[in-house]
Amino acid sequence: MEIRHIFANNQKWIKEKIKTDENYFKNLSLGQKPHILYIGCSDSRVSTEELMGAQPGEVFVHRNLANMVPNTDLSSMSVISYAVSTLKVQHVVICGHYYCNGVKAAMQSADLGILNPWLRNIRDVYRLHKDELALVTDEEEKYKRLVELNVQEQCVNVIKTPDVQRAIKERGLTVHGWVFDVHSGELIDLKIDFDKILEHIMEIYRIV
Ligand code: CO
Repeated sequence: MEIRHIFANNQKWIKEKIKTDENYFKNLSLGQKPHILYIGCSDSRVSTEELMGAQPGEVFVHRNLANMVPNTDLSSMSVISYAVSTLKVQHVVICGHYYCNGVKAAMQSADLGILNPWLRNIRDVYRLHKDELALVTDEEEKYKRLVELNVQEQCVNVIKTPDVQRAIKERGLTVHGWVFDVHSGELIDLKIDFDKILEHIMEIYRIV
């Protein structure tokens, strides 16, 4: 991808969209009503809309290093609040991916400067699930499982927010944990059993 090609590509894309619907962009400008909030990794290989077959206007997207939802992160907290309480999405997705450099970096003994506090959240996920991860002897499988467990913990973090708790109660909003396998292109639903996971912790985290 050469930077000088981008604007020509954009003009081509506009022509293609208008060919099927001359009011395409006029309609887009009227507003958005996405049903899904997608929180994923910034990794350039995980092309959110493309891998889901989603069109502009369908998915509200937030991406950061290793698809995290730390409770003091104003950016992800604002996105969740706006998407859930104002746009009224019906689904919140946390999508991790195998071969995540963020997850891998978090497990190394190295001073990564400004990245340390961000990636520390992943070390905390590791600590929470240390016993299970200790049983996985293959290094690559261990990273894959940590990617999945990180998705699970970020889903729990989503559910800790009052906006999401209110939306679950009032309109049955659902939270989903997915993983994208860069090696096969497959999108995998982890089918996380939230009832089981939240059974003993919601007494601590319930706000509304
Ligand atoms: Co990643």
